[in-house]
Amino acid sequence: MAEIDQIREKWGSKIGFVLAAAGSAIGLGNIWKFPYITGENGGASFVIVYLICIAVIGLPVLIAEILIGRTTQRNPVGAFYKLSQSKFWASLGGLGVIAGFLILSYYAIIAGWALGYIIESINGNFYLWPDPTSAAGHFNDLVSNNYWNIGYFAFFMLLTIAIVFGGVQRGIERASKIMMPVLFILLIILMIRGLTLPGAEKGINFLWNPDWSKIDAKTVLLALGHAFFTLSLGMGAMLTYGSYMSEDDNIPTAAFQIVFLDTLVALIAGMAIFTSVFSVGLDPAAGPGLIFHTLPGVFVKMPGGYFFSILFFISLAIAALTSSISLLEVVVSYYVDELKWKRHKAAIILGFIIFLIGLPSALSFNLFSDIKIFGLSFFEVVDFLASNILLPFGGLLISVFVAWIWGLDKVIPNLKKGAEKLFENYPITLVFWKIFIKYLSPVLIFLVFLNSIGILDKIIELFE
Ligand code: PHE
Repeated sequence: MAEIDQIREKWGSKIGFVLAAAGSAIGLGNIWKFPYITGENGGASFVIVYLICIAVIGLPVLIAEILIGRTTQRNPVGAFYKLSQSKFWASLGGLGVIAGFLILSYYAIIAGWALGYIIESINGNFYLWPDPTSAAGHFNDLVSNNYWNIGYFAFFMLLTIAIVFGGVQRGIERASKIMMPVLFILLIILMIRGLTLPGAEKGINFLWNPDWSKIDAKTVLLALGHAFFTLSLGMGAMLTYGSYMSEDDNIPTAAFQIVFLDTLVALIAGMAIFTSVFSVGLDPAAGPGLIFHTLPGVFVKMPGGYFFSILFFISLAIAALTSSISLLEVVVSYYVDELKWKRHKAAIILGFIIFLIGLPSALSFNLFSDIKIFGLSFFEVVDFLASNILLPFGGLLISVFVAWIWGLDKVIPNLKKGAEKLFENYPITLVFWKIFIKYLSPVLIFLVFLNSIGILDKIIELFE
C-alpha cells in the first residue's frame, strides 16, 4: 500500500490535461473580469493589446511553467528545489502556495455569488429589481447578508474540496471533462442569443472596432496583468497540473490549445455580454458590477431572458469551479509531496483553512465594511495583493528561473521531449520562445510589476 501511495498520480489522457488546464485558465477572469475591464478601457483597442500580451508573454511563460512541473513531477516548492538545490528558490516557490491560499479565499466568494445568482434567476427575482440601480441595491442587500454571502461561499468551497478530494484523474480530470464541454455549449448558446438581438451590432462594433486614443502605458500593463490572471500563471497552478503529465506529452502544442481555448471563451463571453448590454441601451463600462448589477436588468428586457439568465449564471459557476480546483490543488500538492499528508486529509483541512482565511473578506461586505487598509476593504486588499503583486512577481521569477538559473542549455532538451516533430518542422518557434522567455518576458513583466506597486506612475509623471 505504502508503495502505491508513493506513485505520483497522472492524467489519464492528453485531452484530459488540456481540458483541466483550460478549465483552470477559463474562469471568473474570462466571464466576469475580461468583459468589464474591456468595457472600461475602450473595447476593441484593449482587446488587441490583450491578444498581443497573451501571445508574446502568456504563451511563452505558460510553456515554461508547465515544463518545470513536468520535468520535476513536483509541487512548486519541491520543483524549484529539485532544479536549483537552493532553499532560496524553494521558498520563492512557497509564494505560489501562499498565493493559492489567498486567491482561492476571495475567488470562492465571487464564485459563491454566481451560485446564489443561479437561484436568484430560477426564482425570477431579477424581475423584481429590473433597472441597474435597483439591481445593484438588491445585490448589495444579498452580499451584506451573512447567511447568503458566507453560506454560498461555504457551499462553493465544499464543491471545490469534493473534486480535489477525488484525486487527479477521478476528481479533477473527470470533472473537467464533463464541465468544460457543458460550459462551451452554454456560452455558445448565450452568444447566439446576444448576436440575434436587435441592435447587437453596436456591441460587436464595441468589441471589434479599435479606438487607439484609449491606449496608453497603463492600458498595456493592465492587459498584461490580466493575461497572467486569466492564464492562471505565476503561482504554480499550471506547474502543478504539468507535474501530472508524462514525458512524451507535447507541451508547446498543449499550451497553445490552452491559450486558444481561454482566449476564445473570453471573446465569446465578451460577445454574449456586449451585444446584450448594448441592445437594451445600458452602459458597458459598469466595472466589476457589470455582471451582477447590469446583466440582471439586461435579461429582464430580453426575450427568453428568464431562461438565458439561468444558463448564464450556471456557466459562470462552472467556469469558476474548474479554476478553483486548480487553486486548491496547488496547496494540496505541496502538503502531499513535501509534508506527506494524505490527499483526502489535505483537501478537507486546507479547504477549511482557506474558508477561514476568506471570512474577513466575506465580512468586508457587512461587519467589517468600515475597516479600510490604505483605503481598500479586506476583500480588495487580498485581490490586489494576489493578482497585482504575487502573480506578476511569480511570472517574473518563473521566466528568470527558466532562462537564467536552470539554463536554456538544460531546458531545451527537456522541452523537446514529446515535441520533436513540432520543432523539426517549425524550428523558428523554438527561436522565438528562447528570445521571449530570456529577454522580452522578464522585462515586460518587470514593468507590470512596477505598475502594480504604483512606482511606474511616479516615473511616468516625471516624464510628463
Ligand atoms: N485563470 C483563472 C480565471 O481566469 C483564475 C486563476 C488564477 C486560477 C490563478 C488559478 C490560478 O478566472
